Amino acid sequence: MAKFLVTGGAGFIGSNFIHYLFGKYPDVEVINLDKLTYAGNLENLKNIENNPGYRFVKGDICDAEIVEPLVKEADFVVNFAAESHVDRSIGEPDDFIKTDIFGTFVLLEAARKYGVKKFIQISTDEVYGSIEDGSFRETDALMPSSPYSASKAGADRLAYSYFVTYKVPVIVTRCSNNYGPYQYPEKLIPLFVTNAIEDKKLPIYGDGKNVRDWIYVMDHCDAIDFVMNHGDDGEVYNIGAGNERNNLEITGIILSELEKPKELMTFVKDRPGHDRRYSVDCSKLHALGWQPKHSFQEAMKLTIDWYKDNREWWEKIKSGEYLEYYKQHYQIEG
Ligand code: NAD
Ligand code: DAU
Repeated sequence: MAKFLVTGGAGFIGSNFIHYLFGKYPDVEVINLDKLTYAGNLENLKNIENNPGYRFVKGDICDAEIVEPLVKEADFVVNFAAESHVDRSIGEPDDFIKTDIFGTFVLLEAARKYGVKKFIQISTDEVYGSIEDGSFRETDALMPSSPYSASKAGADRLAYSYFVTYKVPVIVTRCSNNYGPYQYPEKLIPLFVTNAIEDKKLPIYGDGKNVRDWIYVMDHCDAIDFVMNHGDDGEVYNIGAGNERNNLEITGIILSELEKPKELMTFVKDRPGHDRRYSVDCSKLHALGWQPKHSFQEAMKLTIDWYKDNREWWEKIKSGEYLEYYKQHYQIEG
């Protein structure tokens, strides 16, 4: 029976990954180590919390005392824990440097000390920076342009160095923009869907023509599982689904699916250093045998429907009453 240490498992992708693991491997064991920052939400794992194979540990990946015994127990470490929002990194980069770089270092040190079967470092396509034409390959230079992506690039290469220097069996994944259930409503798709449902304005940065390559979160989870089983140690794998859309196109899809008027769109000041376009070439992963399973149209509809059907989940977060309720419900200190 495989034992996973999933860090950041109460966040968007981490919680979807835990759902994915229990859905695919009924006898799996998962330890979820999460600091429960504003982005961590145990409600994402409600139907899993009583599974005998699941354990939640509240803690910081920067804290070696917490991390070491958990890594010692684990066969597989999948490091999702991070500060993940570009806008926040522009305002207050400190925690990005601490968690994304130092936290990854603490995990890697523990993996070096105790040994693991695989250490998956969840990096991002943002480490390459912006590209006007064509798509980045895994061997291209990293030119991150925000404090978020620069801290992720640091962690990405640090993880690689632990493979080269200490032979820790590291695999690095660089995925494009995810969408799906349980995404914190500060990111484009959940923010715009929930605002539109509430007839609030949708704030489009700049001219709205920035392009992202969108992948359904369960396809990302599936690709991580795939590279864990079929990828080579020390390698980097781009992950994407080939759905490039600009922000105006995404906004149009959301408004039309929810039957809301275009007047909700509002153009606001651009994000400083706003990357124009992300695009990853995934031929390396395709050659290994992986393909996404969800079409963009279907998965966008599934996602919008999920936010329509789960108002309670995001209304609590957006209302600000959430923290008090949450601490009491889960009896969590701090
Ligand atoms: P998220 O912000 O929704 O979740 C991050 C989780 O990490 C939260 O549960 C938070 O409480 C936890 N966390 C933060 N600091 C921690 C610390 N010091 N110790 C322990 N836990 C901590 O993020 P997400 O969108 O789910 O992204 C997960 C990972 O995937 C990140 O590493 C991100 O860089 C990467 N990624 C995200 C995307 C995307 O589109 N969202 C795409 C590619 C890669
Ligand atoms: O590419 C992968 C990355 O995708 C991940 O590594 C990050 O963790 C994740 O946050 C995401 O980064 P982006 O900056 O691309 O995502 P975000 O949802 O913040 O923005 C998507 C696009 O939408 C971007 O061009 C900025 C724009 N935007 C965003 C918000 C929140 C707006 O126009 N208005 C908004 O209110």
